[in-house]
Amino acid sequence: MEDRFGHHISYLRVSITDRCNERCQYCMPHEEQDWLPRSEVLSYEEILRVIRVGAGLGISKVRVTGGEPLTRRDVVWFLEELARIDGIRDLGLSTNGTLLARPLADGRTTAQAVRDAGVRTVNVSLDTLDRDTYAKTTGRDLFPDVIAGIDAARDAGFEKIKLNTVLMRHRNEHELWDLAAFAHERGLLLRFIELMPVSTTEVLTEDNFLAAGEAKRLLEYRLGPLTARPDIRTNGPASYFEVPGTGQILGFIGAMTNLHFCESCNKLRLTCEGKLRPCLGSHLEFDLREALRDPSMDDADIARIIREVVARKPEKHDFRENYQPGRKMIAIGG
Ligand code: 5AD
Ligand code: SF4
Repeated sequence: MEDRFGHHISYLRVSITDRCNERCQYCMPHEEQDWLPRSEVLSYEEILRVIRVGAGLGISKVRVTGGEPLTRRDVVWFLEELARIDGIRDLGLSTNGTLLARPLADGRTTAQAVRDAGVRTVNVSLDTLDRDTYAKTTGRDLFPDVIAGIDAARDAGFEKIKLNTVLMRHRNEHELWDLAAFAHERGLLLRFIELMPVSTTEVLTEDNFLAAGEAKRLLEYRLGPLTARPDIRTNGPASYFEVPGTGQILGFIGAMTNLHFCESCNKLRLTCEGKLRPCLGSHLEFDLREALRDPSMDDADIARIIREVVARKPEKHDFRENYQPGRKMIAIGG
């Protein structure tokens, strides 16, 4: 599938739940959350149907997100079914990491079960190495669980484990080196992400914004000049750099400051309530749930809607002009 601007759409991010066991200040800081009623969230069967139809249209990569995807019941079953879909060659999971080490009834860790289900890459959010800062930022004292989760993921044999750090001034700007060292020691790919204006409430504001370029300069202050590695590409819009001497690769996701951010976008997003979003940073969304629940609609109708959404994919996000308070990132599929 190709849109009006030459973007080849091959990647679908799927949010399977709006629920989370944490309360990140840049996402859903309030303790009390109005979770969607079960009936408004797509069933696993409905999600699998969308992915099957998408695979027929050229979707080959799927990333499962939330909320926290590992809080949804029977998620391992869902991942197994998803991995079996013809045409899906690359399956990833984004998680806060807190539940990866949790043992299942059969004795495996959750991380191992996720790997065995066919998930190849896992992205873990880690904004700090300080337990108090972690508790303050995520609303939960689960730092030890995340570290155990990262260890469990390393033991599970994923093809790649990435760490995502949201850049926050006054919060973690003094820890960037330590985070880089942590990732390097464990052979994990670390990416620094600019704070985006997508949250239910702005607890973190523009005052906390730390640009990717400034983070890079802070790192270079200790590590020496980083060398651009334009040859390295993951599925997303990260720019990669190499640390001189050690060869470590660091990624920067400059959603707000990188004006070329959207040029190579290959994504669609499916929200947990069945809205298909052509772009994270735009209000545009199209309801698939009604079509999925309409017995007179068949897979060809679903395919037609997906193609229409691709046709209306914007050239680039409009975060810079269009703030989205009241909409947490995770509800739109991270
Ligand atoms: N800005 C930047 N990143 C965010 N995430 C969640 N909300 C925001 C935001 N407002 C990140 C999480 C996770 C990824 C799925 O999205 O930390 O790494
Ligand atoms: Fe949960 Fe992720 Fe949102 Fe934090 S950013 S509250 S871990 S969904």
